[in-house]
Amino acid sequence: MDVRLYTDNTVCHKFKDFYDEFYGGKTGLTFLDIGCGEGPFSKYIEERKNRVVAVDIINELPCTECLMSIRADIFEVDFVPNSFDCVIDNCCLQLFPLDKVVELIQKAKGWLKPGGRFYCKTAAESPYYTRVKSRLSTESNIKKMFNGFKGEYSLFTARLMTGEIASHYIVNMVKYKNGK
Ligand SMILES: C[S@@+](CC[C@H](N)C(=O)[O-])C[C@H]1O[C@@H](n2cnc3c(N)ncnc32)[C@H](O)[C@@H]1O
Repeated sequence: MDVRLYTDNTVCHKFKDFYDEFYGGKTGLTFLDIGCGEGPFSKYIEERKNRVVAVDIINELPCTECLMSIRADIFEVDFVPNSFDCVIDNCCLQLFPLDKVVELIQKAKGWLKPGGRFYCKTAAESPYYTRVKSRLSTESNIKKMFNGFKGEYSLFTARLMTGEIASHYIVNMVKYKNGK
């Protein structure tokens, strides 16, 4: 798989809006970036003085004071419970079958602090989504993935760098305070 087909290596304005709303002006928080790629999101977080653990099976970003880079399969790593204020996935988990993703997100729920957030951008079922051949999500899939979270998700349709029109779910969910 050539991952360059799947990312333009920029930070989507949807994430910037999300970040500004919940983390703007805050520092010292800890994020996990699942499938960080070349790190546009991790760098965005780090530049804003929050810490980030960036995991990718191929890329290994240079570690800095605020960025810990791990080259690993996200399905093979584990973290101490309640480690993260926020977990983000920009178009990595969409590459995997639903049951694997459900399991991973449920595991990541344990990594999140109570009240922690999960931000995800994932390919949606759409007649326009012709080029990317990864698994496509539906509304019912999103509900299965985010069992034990509450929040919102919406469809976001935009033009890719290739000129094609693609539809994604943007998910912004909070782990229930009781952690169940
Ligand atoms: C579409 S790219 C997105 C990269 C980055 N999140 C971005 O938005 O620029 C998907 C990334 O997931 C990574 N990836 C694929 N399978 C993975 C796995 N099992 N564990 C960790 N990373 C994985 C790929 O190496 C790739 O960098």
